[in-house]
Amino acid sequence: MTPTSKTPASIKPATGKLGILTPGLGAVATTFIAGSESIRRGLSKPIGSLTQMATVRLGKRTENRSPLIKDFVPLASLDDLAFGAWDPIPDDALTAARKAGVLEARDLDPIADFLAGIKPMPAVFDNKYVTRINGSNVKKGATKRDLAEQLRQDMRDFKAKHGCSRLAVVWCASTEVFIKHGPTHATLEAFEKAMLANDESIAPSMLYAWAALMEDVPFANGAPNLTVDIPALLQLANDRGVPISGKDFKTGQTWMKTVIAPGLKARMLGLAGWYSTNILGNRDGEVLDDPASFKTKEESKLSVLHTILQPDKYPELYKDFSHVVRINYYPPRGDNKEGWDNIDIVGWMNYPMQIKVNFLCRDSILAAPIVLDLALFSDFAHRAGMKGIQEWLSFYYKSPMAAAGLQPEHDLFIQQTKLKNTLRHLMGEEQITHLGLEYYAT
Ligand SMILES: NC(=O)c1ccc[n+]([C@@H]2O[C@H](COP(=O)([O-])OP(=O)(O)OC[C@H]3O[C@@H](n4cnc5c(N)ncnc54)[C@H](O)[C@@H]3O)[C@@H](O)[C@H]2O)c1
Repeated sequence: MTPTSKTPASIKPATGKLGILTPGLGAVATTFIAGSESIRRGLSKPIGSLTQMATVRLGKRTENRSPLIKDFVPLASLDDLAFGAWDPIPDDALTAARKAGVLEARDLDPIADFLAGIKPMPAVFDNKYVTRINGSNVKKGATKRDLAEQLRQDMRDFKAKHGCSRLAVVWCASTEVFIKHGPTHATLEAFEKAMLANDESIAPSMLYAWAALMEDVPFANGAPNLTVDIPALLQLANDRGVPISGKDFKTGQTWMKTVIAPGLKARMLGLAGWYSTNILGNRDGEVLDDPASFKTKEESKLSVLHTILQPDKYPELYKDFSHVVRINYYPPRGDNKEGWDNIDIVGWMNYPMQIKVNFLCRDSILAAPIVLDLALFSDFAHRAGMKGIQEWLSFYYKSPMAAAGLQPEHDLFIQQTKLKNTLRHLMGEEQITHLGLEYYAT
């Protein structure tokens, strides 16, 4: 790294190796690992990753200072990454990547040895929370607490084996069934008691999150499960000074929504309805075919439009719009999802118009760079002394976590500004408000 400004002394340097651990070694995790290795070998480019490709403007426009983020902020370099995972299915990363069918043989073959060497650690897995998956690579323990302690040991062992100075965990495992906030999630004490009592309200993903936080490891949640988004674990993250973020990677259709909806609102155009449907044939699609898992996803997808459009503030434009989201499991398409959006908008003198979006996206191709960015930024945040919810990482999520009583920000462009301003702020640069003060009479 060639820093363009001095790194404040309060930020610890990225010395040594960073281990990135993913619960889940499926389509997203293998695409992320394979892509990272392929980039390290100069075979691919890190397209879609802000940490690798984006620049950040510093100072006034006339100063012409726009370094790459990775040259401005002390992030772990790709060469210093080690990868590990847990999965109930014992396939190594090569076999899992081949089964996922995202990447083609021409991209997997040159890195086959590397991928074959990544074998998943036994998972904390329970069929009750993800009904469509059965696997043999599963931990045994008398209580949920025992299982979580085994995860802690895995983290320590991984760190020692790979000579890592730091770890980051990104949840890339299946979407669990919908769980409501309950009393066992309210305080750390209640949560820890519930782990010992094998309470049903404690899902496997929460055990990974607890274990990570106890090991002072940042945790990012790529699925819509509650996981770390409960007061008990927020308390633990704050107590231990560890960053957390979530939920649900913002990739295909929802990402599009957070691009288009701010555009409608910016022009004060009304919305009568937004109908979204998808066909998807990968394992994630199969898991989401279970109504209980889909409910978790649906909640996450539905919240976006309301928060961006603010019907309370603009009732004439956005009150009572209809919002429908469907996901249909359709095996022939594999990971190559196709989404259709029909958007009924309303203009001047109430004249209706329609926008149609037909997005043929590759889910894991969009998610992989998000995993990389979240791991690198979470590790950076930790070294910079940040703890608890990292709202500046909302950019990457469909259901961003926010402090109690606050609405999360969904508008992609506000999220981007917040992300870059946080980096500027941490690095001791002025935040950019895009307010050209020179236009004002003094
Ligand atoms: N691809 C995207 O664009 C996208 C976007 C948002 C969210 N997500 C979420 O990311 C997650 C991963 O997606 P995917 O396409 O890789 O799915 P996938 O089904 O290919 O992989 C998930 C893996 O997690 C494993 N798993 C399930 N429960 C586990 C547990 N308790 N511990 C460890 N491993 C466990 C499964 O065996 C499977 O191998 C899903 O929850 C999905 O909803 C993906």
